[in-house]
Amino acid sequence: MATKMIVGLQYGDEGKGRAVHYEAKNASIVIRATGGSNAGHTVVANGKKYAMHLLPSAIIRPDVLSMIGPGVVADLKILSEEIAQMREAGIKIEKDNFAISERTHITLPHHKQLDRLYEMLKENKVGTTGRGVGTTYEEKARRTNLRMCDLFQEEEKLKHKITENLKVYNVLVAEANFLIEDGVYHEQKFPIITTEEEYEYCMQYKENIQAFITDTHPIIDQAIENNALILIEGAQSFWLDNDHGDYPMTTSSNPNASGTASGAGVGPTLINEVIGVMKAYTSRVGNGPFITELEDETGNLIREWGHEYGTTTGRPRRTGWLDLVMIKHTKNTSGLTSLCVNHLDTIGKLSQIQVCVGYQYKGKTIQHVPIDKENCKPIYQTLKGGWTTEGVTTFEQLPKEARDYIYLIEKYTGVPVKYIGVGADEKRTIIK
Ligand code: IMP
Repeated sequence: MATKMIVGLQYGDEGKGRAVHYEAKNASIVIRATGGSNAGHTVVANGKKYAMHLLPSAIIRPDVLSMIGPGVVADLKILSEEIAQMREAGIKIEKDNFAISERTHITLPHHKQLDRLYEMLKENKVGTTGRGVGTTYEEKARRTNLRMCDLFQEEEKLKHKITENLKVYNVLVAEANFLIEDGVYHEQKFPIITTEEEYEYCMQYKENIQAFITDTHPIIDQAIENNALILIEGAQSFWLDNDHGDYPMTTSSNPNASGTASGAGVGPTLINEVIGVMKAYTSRVGNGPFITELEDETGNLIREWGHEYGTTTGRPRRTGWLDLVMIKHTKNTSGLTSLCVNHLDTIGKLSQIQVCVGYQYKGKTIQHVPIDKENCKPIYQTLKGGWTTEGVTTFEQLPKEARDYIYLIEKYTGVPVKYIGVGADEKRTIIK
């Protein structure tokens, strides 16, 4: 059949779950490809709301194989708790509908402490989610990290690996604690962590996840041979990408489409569709440049109407106008084939809307994103808002102003819009 991918185009939290929900209907496998428990998506199952961080959102579909790919870093405790929570809610999580790649890297308690330590030491703080995601990727790059397959090693060997994995952390915190004691830092101390503690931690959570750890390659090969639909679920977003985003205010993986394909284990020539998900405005949680940010009453209104508070950390999100220059920039780098535009209902509540269609940069007008984004001033096009999407189920039924908003996005980016979100409930989706 095909392989499709869903990726975020802004700063995360664009509502990728909506597109996943629709595309997963015909999928046989849904693969989560990058990031870790820094991601957050809300799933409504049997009338209850669950904030999930690691499980692919397709887990609520018992007929789909949900998979955690090799590009993900998984916190054993969070993963194990999510599995238990979803099972309690009556969601099937068995070997035939859930798999974890044996290559997936493991986040351990010391990774979270390190995340906290780095943020404390940095003058220019990233504002990470504190989930130890970047520090797990760091140890992965240092080639000392544990993968899921390591959980099956003999006790001696696993302990040896943990000791190797812990070495740098314990050296660093000894120094950091010395500085703290010396009165240089006034933050909470960092614990020395023993091999025994992290071994026990691994054993405690291995129990709940071991049945799902497997070699995911043959499963993907078989699905491709059978012409089945594989759906790759991106996490975070383009502008948080460590190569293409707002470095250093980025996450530590590559949530652009190519990085997402790699994290899932499906080659670029096999990807038939890349659906980019965006909001009809912009939001960002964490620090970094934000050209169209609104630090005024309009920004507050968007935050309240759009419920812009982080799923993982609860932090209020920064809000601003839609920046089409940023969206267009992702078109070729991520090879977009269509768009999903969420929160068209939210932005329509404002009577006048601004959309950024260019930047003033070093005395010139430009329509691309330079590396020193902070030197850009937005050039806005003003559009008429004040629409309601209540009761609307088709594109044609949308008020003219709302349709014009969508046409502007299509014209500017050159990418057709496939899905439009007009309400929090996934049922409030218009298929164009
Ligand atoms: P980290 O990924 O926890 O290291 O955080 C790095 C930056 O990415 C911070 O600005 C986070 O707020 C942001 N970030 C990471 N994951 C997400 C996400 O799923 N949604 C929105 N922002 C995220």
